[in-house]
Amino acid sequence: MTDIATEKATAAASGAAATEQFRSKQKSSQTAVDTQRVDILVTELLTAAHDIIRRHKVTYAEYDALKSWLIRVGEDGEWPLFLDVWAEHVVEEVANENREGTKGTIEGPYYVPDAPALSAEATLPMRKDEAGTPLLFQGQVRAVDGSPLPAAKVEIWQADDEGYYSQFAPNLPEWNLRGTVIADETGHFKIHTIQPAPYQIPTDGACGQLIAAAGWHPWRPAHLHLKASAPGHQLITTQLYFRGGDYVDDDIATAVKPELILDPKPTGHGDDHEVTYDFVLDKA
Ligand code: DHB
Ligand code: FE
Repeated sequence: MTDIATEKATAAASGAAATEQFRSKQKSSQTAVDTQRVDILVTELLTAAHDIIRRHKVTYAEYDALKSWLIRVGEDGEWPLFLDVWAEHVVEEVANENREGTKGTIEGPYYVPDAPALSAEATLPMRKDEAGTPLLFQGQVRAVDGSPLPAAKVEIWQADDEGYYSQFAPNLPEWNLRGTVIADETGHFKIHTIQPAPYQIPTDGACGQLIAAAGWHPWRPAHLHLKASAPGHQLITTQLYFRGGDYVDDDIATAVKPELILDPKPTGHGDDHEVTYDFVLDKA
């Protein structure tokens, strides 16, 4: 029997939750198969792999190690984690290359739609004794031409002060540090939260095994995840980071952009910090 109080976050448990989350999202957005496109993309992917095998004279031992590892990625439910860390940043780069507004970056595996709706000034759902430096994250949502976007939506989700996400790690309230903020009639919002901690890729699963085998580190810098949207405008999915924080210059997921680094300042009240960040949305 699992002891709830001491239950630990494991790669298999967070991987299973991330896989389940992805499956439920995918059910509602199946795309039709374009045979020609599949042919081109898969042929080129395989050709690139064949080329690597030839150039590096990949051995049977290495080929079998790869097979075992791929099988384990599935067993641990870590396909969403693996792909979002090592591939999504390039998909995002291509998807958003023509945007003029706020820079996007990867969504990652831990978004859950329909977080509780909150008013334009709100405190994210959190525990009474939520640890971490209090942060007031405020700003305005505007169009590229500078006009304010009334009733814009700012969805926010983040890790806690230990780097854990609600619904993917044990013992956290369902919607902890997640919310859907509806900005006011001038697009302004004020969100009271805490500064998240850096996030560590689970070290006890297949992705952790790869990281150790390659001599990499398993860390992402501390970040807020956001989706900003407004009627008639394109939704942007992005993340914001903290200047000077660990791993900002060395993100395992390659998802930091200079425009996305915040510089929170002390408010003068205890340990509290505040920062202003404005979202700029492209027309739909
Ligand atoms: C992963 C986790 C994150 O919090 C994130 O923002 C991106 C990727 C991951 O574990 O794959
Ligand atoms: Fe994250």
